[in-house]
Amino acid sequence: MHRRPLTLGLAAATLAALLAVPPVAAQPTPEEIINGFEGVLGPVRSYRPSHPKGLCAAGHFTATPEGSRLSVAPVFSGQRVNTIIRFGVAGANPQADDRARSTRGLGIRFETAAGDVLDMANISAPIFGAPNPTVFLENLRVRAPDPATGRPNAERIAAFVAANPAVTRQGAWLGATLPPASWATTPYWGVNAFRFQGQDGQVRHARWVFEPRAGVQRLTAEQMQSLPRDFLADEIRARIAQGPVEFDMVLQFPGPGDDVTNPTVAWPDDRPRAVVGRLTVTSVAAGPGGPCDPISFMTLDQEPGISFSDDPTLHARAAPYAVSLSRRTN
Ligand code: HEM
Repeated sequence: MHRRPLTLGLAAATLAALLAVPPVAAQPTPEEIINGFEGVLGPVRSYRPSHPKGLCAAGHFTATPEGSRLSVAPVFSGQRVNTIIRFGVAGANPQADDRARSTRGLGIRFETAAGDVLDMANISAPIFGAPNPTVFLENLRVRAPDPATGRPNAERIAAFVAANPAVTRQGAWLGATLPPASWATTPYWGVNAFRFQGQDGQVRHARWVFEPRAGVQRLTAEQMQSLPRDFLADEIRARIAQGPVEFDMVLQFPGPGDDVTNPTVAWPDDRPRAVVGRLTVTSVAAGPGGPCDPISFMTLDQEPGISFSDDPTLHARAAPYAVSLSRRTN
């Protein structure tokens, strides 16, 4: 399947110059992106620069017959597939506050009995904080401390945000939505669009979301004050001691005019959907660390079953995850 190149070819650049079209900014390299994180956070040495607070868990996934019909990927065969899971809390702080209005994460590694692997990182918000990798990197760079003062330059940040309002959309959604009451009671969206090739040979764009079978439950304003700041791990351990935690994996298909390339815009709720599988979480780690630590939960292009859409943010994710993994594990 055709995949869009990450940078403009020379011929296209020359044509753009001839037509006096402003040149498309070159896509940032993976190292530039991780250096961008490091400019704000300091060196990536031992933990993830994003969602560093987390808890390993394990379980299994089984595709529904509809899932098998919609994707020829081995994970969707309908056989039970083992999973290594990581629940996370967004931000860059390994001691992040579980009551914060930030995203929670659900990293999943699916491993079939035959050794096929599919990774994915999902968040508890339907949209991302940048429309493309260039804006993502600039949004990091503008927040790095100004060498003159040692502090971020508030005026430069304000000017950047005014010129790139799409970077405010995820924050606005989080500001209007109470934080999850449990890692088990929030939907987790994959956010980027992918292409699914079905058994009928058809290729369909879709985004996915993991919907909690326990229902959506959020903290009250009172609980945001009264709960301990590290309540999530104890809550999920107590919950799983009573029985497995389950999510339905649901595909959402775009309607006319829905943009498959911009992860800062959610598609309307009335778009067609299909329940393609059930994720069952059966155990969580007793303490920090575990088999999820050395995994970077980045979905790779898995043509033909689950291949990349033309969303440039998706294409810009894979390599930086690998650079980050190598810096934090070496
Ligand atoms: C240009 C876009 C993006 C870049 C450069 C980026 C970069 C990164 C990096 C470097 C990590 C740490 C990887 C590691 O050390 O293992 C990470 C983790 C993560 N990212 Fe992204 N990301 C991007 C977009 C997204 C999007 C759209 C989502 C929404 C689903 C997302 C969700 C996550 C989650 C949940 C984690 C933590 C997963 C875990 O628990 O290990 N990221 N990201």
